[in-house]
Amino acid sequence: MKSILAIYPGSFDPVTNGHLDLIERGAKIFDRLIVAVLQNLEKEPLFAVPERLEMLREVTRKWPNVEIDVFNGLLMDYARQRKAQVILRGIRAISDYEYELQMALMNRKLEPNIETVFMMPAETYSYLSSRLVREIARLGGSVRDLVPSIVEERLRTKVH
Ligand code: PNS
Repeated sequence: MKSILAIYPGSFDPVTNGHLDLIERGAKIFDRLIVAVLQNLEKEPLFAVPERLEMLREVTRKWPNVEIDVFNGLLMDYARQRKAQVILRGIRAISDYEYELQMALMNRKLEPNIETVFMMPAETYSYLSSRLVREIARLGGSVRDLVPSIVEERLRTKVH
């Protein structure tokens, strides 16, 4: 029987409730889902990759078919190496579409056998992003309801 492995790639700095919503949806329709954190050496992240992985592992423990991993370099090289058939990406609003379309088509050019599949998170999360969460936390605002509680706690210790 055919088993579909999907990769949900991203920075996850930090994981938000919007990401979790998408992970839950992805874990329901794919046989296995790898949440893959990009190790981007150029960016200046708030959380180091090991911290991001630890938080992701903690908040996805309830889904047995979800794995957390890290990747470097081209996503398509990593996807080929893991033998994934699908890349999962979330689209919140029309504003996401242009960038996502460009990336999906470029990835298809690099590897025509891997499909990008878009899913929509719940509309409650349509305005949520890791960038805004970092900014709100840095400036002392509340991120309750936007991120899992363990992320909220870590943000509090990180910025104070
Ligand atoms: O959460 P993000 O930051 O929007 O995720 C972007 C990500 C990690 C999916 C994208 O930057 C990526 O795949 N980077 C790996 C390098 C790569 O494959 N670049 C070519 C993309 S067409």
